[in-house]
Amino acid sequence: MSSGTRRRVLPDFPWDSLAGAAAVARSHHDGVVDLSVGTPVDPVPDAVGEALRAAWDSPGYPQTWGTPALREAAVGALSRRHAAGLSATEGLDPDAVLPTIGSKELVAWLPTLLGLGPDDVVAFPHLAYPTYEVGARLAGTRTAVVADDEPLPEGTRLVWLNSPSNPTGRVLDAGRLTDRVAEARALGAVVASDECYLALPGPGVVTTSVLDPAVHGGDVSGLLAVHSLSKTSNLAGYRAGLVLGDPALVADLLQIRKHAGMIVPRPVQEAMTAALRDDEHVAATRARYDARRAVLRPALEAAGLRVEHSEAGLYLWATAGEPCRATVDRLAARGILVAPGEFYGPAGASHVRVALTASDERIAAAAARLGE
Ligand SMILES: Cc1ncc(COP(=O)(O)O)c(C=O)c1O
Repeated sequence: MSSGTRRRVLPDFPWDSLAGAAAVARSHHDGVVDLSVGTPVDPVPDAVGEALRAAWDSPGYPQTWGTPALREAAVGALSRRHAAGLSATEGLDPDAVLPTIGSKELVAWLPTLLGLGPDDVVAFPHLAYPTYEVGARLAGTRTAVVADDEPLPEGTRLVWLNSPSNPTGRVLDAGRLTDRVAEARALGAVVASDECYLALPGPGVVTTSVLDPAVHGGDVSGLLAVHSLSKTSNLAGYRAGLVLGDPALVADLLQIRKHAGMIVPRPVQEAMTAALRDDEHVAATRARYDARRAVLRPALEAAGLRVEHSEAGLYLWATAGEPCRATVDRLAARGILVAPGEFYGPAGASHVRVALTASDERIAAAAARLGE
């Protein structure tokens, strides 16, 4: 029935294949510990909920571009939280900020919005969030899977970076980002840096935005940073993202998105503004995930898994040296549901991704079960 639609270019939704393991994990007498998806469980910050409520009477159409206050708040948050030292005079203008309906839709549609097609290559990491490939397939481009230290192929028109990484939690330092930007520029490719975990470095870890002047040397042309409030501010349910960077690119995206009705609701714009003005809740979120990482990582290691990277972000990337589905099944038998590494590319065939997005009580339950 769907053969005539774009559905045909897409793979089956990966999580659907976890149904069997999920049923086993759910049958645990003390309930499932679901660590298979990175969906926040902690409360929406009070000030953010209040801003949403205060804007309930919003009968008119919101601006696709976002309110000026939202765009100012986004630039302010980036420079405060990430020491990017950005200001209008240092290359980033609040005009070059655009709210998105969560970041996933932007990721999925960016190649199409950039006008890419069959002659173009979209490059993304060899272990990566599946939506980079989905976006390429929707636009009908070619794809290239590149490890962080491999060169970009000829024909690359868009390269996705993702630091800290989903699924590995690996961080690219400023030097690596600088090299990738230079390489992409030499090919004439746009760099889209998916920075949705940027504000969640582990203890002692430094994360760097592609919009840090140390990376781009004062020239943001061809650069887009893709941000999300889902994880940093527990707002996955609000669908709150941002794209910012090259003013010319952002202006083009704005025009298309205006035509296409890709608009963030006004109450959500107000909630985003409140979230971007406040750093306290971000520090609390970071501390929570650091504590959960500190409980779960040693528990996985004591249970015989090797944890790789995982120094930042929301995931532990672990292997038991066996096919990933075998590990998924063994953990499901203990009532713990995790994602098979193959969801993130063939290079993940013997890894699993364990999300830190569960309550402290459920993380402690997982650690106890791993020790049994
Ligand atoms: C790397 C990466 N990018 C983007 C997203 C999308 O986040 P959202 O659409 O909630 O902003 C996710 C969500 O898990 C992700 O892991």
